[in-house]
Order: sequence, then structure tokens, then C-alpha cells
Amino acid sequence: MSPFAAAAPAFPAIRMRRGRSAPWIRAMLAEHVLTPADLIWPLFIAEGQGAEEPIATLPGVSRWTVAQLAGKAREARDLGIPCIALFPNTPANLRSERGEEALNPDNLMCRAIRTIKDAVPEVGILTDVALDPYTAHGHDGLTDAVGYVLNDETSEQLVGQALVQAEAGADIVAPSDMMDGRVGAIRSALEQHGHYNVAIMAYAAKYASAFYGPFRDAVGSRGLLKGDKRGYQMDPANGAEALREVALDLAEGADMVMVKPGLAYLDVLARVKDRFGVPTFAYAVSGEYAMIEAAAAAGAGDRDALILETLMAFKRAGATGVLTYHARDAARLLGG
Ligand code: PBG
Repeated sequence: MSPFAAAAPAFPAIRMRRGRSAPWIRAMLAEHVLTPADLIWPLFIAEGQGAEEPIATLPGVSRWTVAQLAGKAREARDLGIPCIALFPNTPANLRSERGEEALNPDNLMCRAIRTIKDAVPEVGILTDVALDPYTAHGHDGLTDAVGYVLNDETSEQLVGQALVQAEAGADIVAPSDMMDGRVGAIRSALEQHGHYNVAIMAYAAKYASAFYGPFRDAVGSRGLLKGDKRGYQMDPANGAEALREVALDLAEGADMVMVKPGLAYLDVLARVKDRFGVPTFAYAVSGEYAMIEAAAAAGAGDRDALILETLMAFKRAGATGVLTYHARDAARLLGG
């Protein structure tokens, strides 16, 4: 029997449509709200002084030079977007087997962080910690002779990467690599180096997904990638395992966790938020963005409405906030 059966009077005493009968009452009864403060805006960085570089598989998204990025951060601030996320497109000649460029304090990422922090200190900067923008093979970590991604050796390198980002001024470091134990290793290194207030957003439940294609174009790793990432990213078949991943990252010192991708994993997001009650972010990934853009371009739906409805779905499922390439559009639509 329905749990509501005893308490609920029947129609017509109850008319659910009463609550939907005018805009004011819909606004008053809304269970969730979406504001620009819910959004994190991912931005791609290009080397050089040239023009913005559009990304074919992400229509409307470009790579920006370091100088141009300060302007993007200003736009974010003016729209009420609290934080941006940075991803570098490392020139091919700086990529290597071991991705050493990730440790260079003057790499593209670190130069971008310093320039943006200098120009717009009031916007938070989240940085991705993983080796895929730096490796010649496109994997997130160091590989052995047969191409297996090595956990502990990778973790050590990620610690170094997180430290150069923190030194440059990153506010949140976000390990997206799915190595075991890296959150704890990064946290203790940050503490040792006095970066007490640099937070960690762990990509805690990150799935081996077909939705990352356009991102790999954007950072220039799609063509390079040997094999797939199923040896470290999660199996889409698994839900309970995500709770274990989150528990481990929290125990290691993660301040906030992420579930990724977004829409196809709202069940995981809701379970994580219900179980742990910690700041929980969703990443509406590149393939999701591309899907909405393709639907809108095909006349299958209203673009603005699709953007806002999907972002609200994340809030309803329990997200504290959402990383989305639609952040600027959404903030504008929300009157930010
Ligand atoms: C890489 C990383 C990926 C994304 C964020 N960080 C891709 C991957 O794991 O291959 C995907 C983001 C997106 O698709 O928008 N460490």
C-alpha cells in the first residue's frame, strides 16, 4: 500500500494542479533553485598569443590564450559564477612518455593560474590533476612496458603536479585520474607545504565513459590515446562501488567529491549525496554539452530550456554545484 494512502484525502479535496496554477505559486513551491553560484565554468587554455581556437566537436566552446583567460574570469565574476576550472592543451612537442611537463612550474596551466589570479583574484580557480594533457600516450598516468597505468608511481607524480598548481595559486585541486590513494598523498603534501586552504575536489566516482570524446579533442589527447581507460575509471555497470570510492576519498581528506559524467549518472549523484551529505558536484561533461547543442541545432528542442532543465535536474538530484560548459549561457539566462 502507498505510504500516503492513509493520510491523503482524495480528489477533489486535493488538486495537485492548484500548486501549478500561476507563476507566483509555482515560484513559491519550487523545491530547488538554480543560481549562477551553482556553476563552475570549465575553460581550455591554448599556448601562444593567437586568436581563440574553436573546438569542432564542442560548438561554442574555444581554447583561449593565457591573456584572454583573464577576460573570461572577469565575465565569470560579473555573472556571479564563483569558480572556473582550467584544462591546458599542451603543445605536442612538450608531451612525453612520463608527462614531465605537468611538473613544470611555468607550464601553460601554471602561467594561466598566475595571470588569472593576478587579474581577478575573487574568482576561484579549480585545476585538474591528471597526466593526460601531458603524456604522449594520452593516459592519465605513467605506463609500464605493456601500457598498464601504474598506480603508486602515478600518484607520486600527481602530488608534484598538485603542488606546482597550488604554488601558482590554484584554490581547488581536482584529481581526475582515479588512482588509488592519491587524495591522501596530495592532502599531506599540501599540508607539508603550508597550503592549508587549498581544497581538494576529488573526482571520486568517475566512469569510463563514451561522453568524454569532445574533451579529448579540446586538450589534444583523443588521437594519442592508446586503448581505453577502463583499467582505472569505473565500470558504468556499478553503483554501490561509487559509494566505496567516495568513502575512501573522504577518509583521505577530500573536501568535496564529484560524480562524472552527469546526466546518465544522476542515480549515483543522489545516492552519494544522501549517504554522505558532503559537498557533491556533478560534471556535465563534454559529450553531454555536445548532445544538447546537437539537439538544438537539429531543431529538436529549445536550447535555453534544455540547458536550464538539465542543470535543474542536477540540483534536484542533490548536486551542490555543476561543472558545465554551459555555465556562461546559464548564468546569463538566470540573470547573473
Ligand atoms: C582527464 C579528464 C577528462 C575529463 C576531465 N578530466 C577526460 C578523460 O578522463 O578522458 C572529461 C571532461 C569532459 O568530457 O568534459 N583526466
